[in-house]
Amino acid sequence: MFEFRNVTRQFGAKIAVDNVTLNIPAGQMVGIIGRSGAGKSTFLRMVNRLASPSSGSIVFAGRDVTKLKGADLRRWQRDCAMIFQQFNLVPRLDVMTNVMLGRLNHRSTLTSMLGLFTREERIMAIAALERLGIEQAALQPAGTLSGGQQQRVAIARALLQEPKVLLADEPIASLDPLNAKIVMDALRDINEREGITVITNLHTLDTARNYCERIVGMAGGRVVFDGKPEDLNADAVRTIYGTDKDGAGIDESMTSTAINISALSAANQSARVQPLALAGL
Ligand SMILES: Nc1ncnc2c1ncn2[C@@H]1O[C@H](COP(=O)(O)OP(=O)(O)OP(=O)(O)O)[C@@H](O)[C@H]1O
Ligand SMILES: [Mg+2]
Repeated sequence: MFEFRNVTRQFGAKIAVDNVTLNIPAGQMVGIIGRSGAGKSTFLRMVNRLASPSSGSIVFAGRDVTKLKGADLRRWQRDCAMIFQQFNLVPRLDVMTNVMLGRLNHRSTLTSMLGLFTREERIMAIAALERLGIEQAALQPAGTLSGGQQQRVAIARALLQEPKVLLADEPIASLDPLNAKIVMDALRDINEREGITVITNLHTLDTARNYCERIVGMAGGRVVFDGKPEDLNADAVRTIYGTDKDGAGIDESMTSTAINISALSAANQSARVQPLALAGL
């Protein structure tokens, strides 16, 4: 269970996250949506302490994670895996090694850096790659994989951390519709099977609606919507995304960037992926 209490992050005069208070029960799958600059990434980065709040507290299972230092902070960052839009793999290392880097905070840095992974860790890595359907790429340098494959490797690496929380910052923004679906299905599967809390920033409303039991809308650093997908009506969408310069409502297809643009072009180019594109994936 997360309790965010008056969480604020300022960069100079700019307030990126403004006095956010909310609770997230363990095991929930939450989508955070909002315009570019709304504060979504800053919010997520404060959870695993890639950024620290200027004020406020983030309490997880009774402990204020904003106060953790040293070994306690490293343990928290292990419990709190993160995946990114740009995957953040080590491109020249093979896929297996990238995945086993998820064990780094479970063991001494020296043995990890020497590549001294145990048989058990190798088995864990293969099992995670199999689960994500990319075991055939295990020995390839990660940099030679497609974006969709790299994101699956990043999820496998996150699984090896045996996290309590999985944070994802626009995990499908660089992917084509089919890979976006594979990645979102994997996140949902992890949420449902392991009961891991998933908090994911998303540009696409449709994806948030399809995959998240709860949607948090941010605008100007504040939470302006917090509810179920079915509560996200046109008024709520306008509150989150604003109106265009003529005062007209926002067209939902305009609320997403890369993924919907690629969905549209994929739909034009290939009848095979059209149903996915139509589903907004
Ligand atoms: N390190 C930083 N230094 C200065 N300003 C920052 C920094 N990080 C974020 N900001 C500012 O804080 C605000 C929120 O940024 P953030 O990256 O959290 O938004 P976002 O909702 O993730 O946007 P996007 O959808 O484009 O990823 C923006 O105005 C941004 O310019
Ligand atoms: Mg962002």
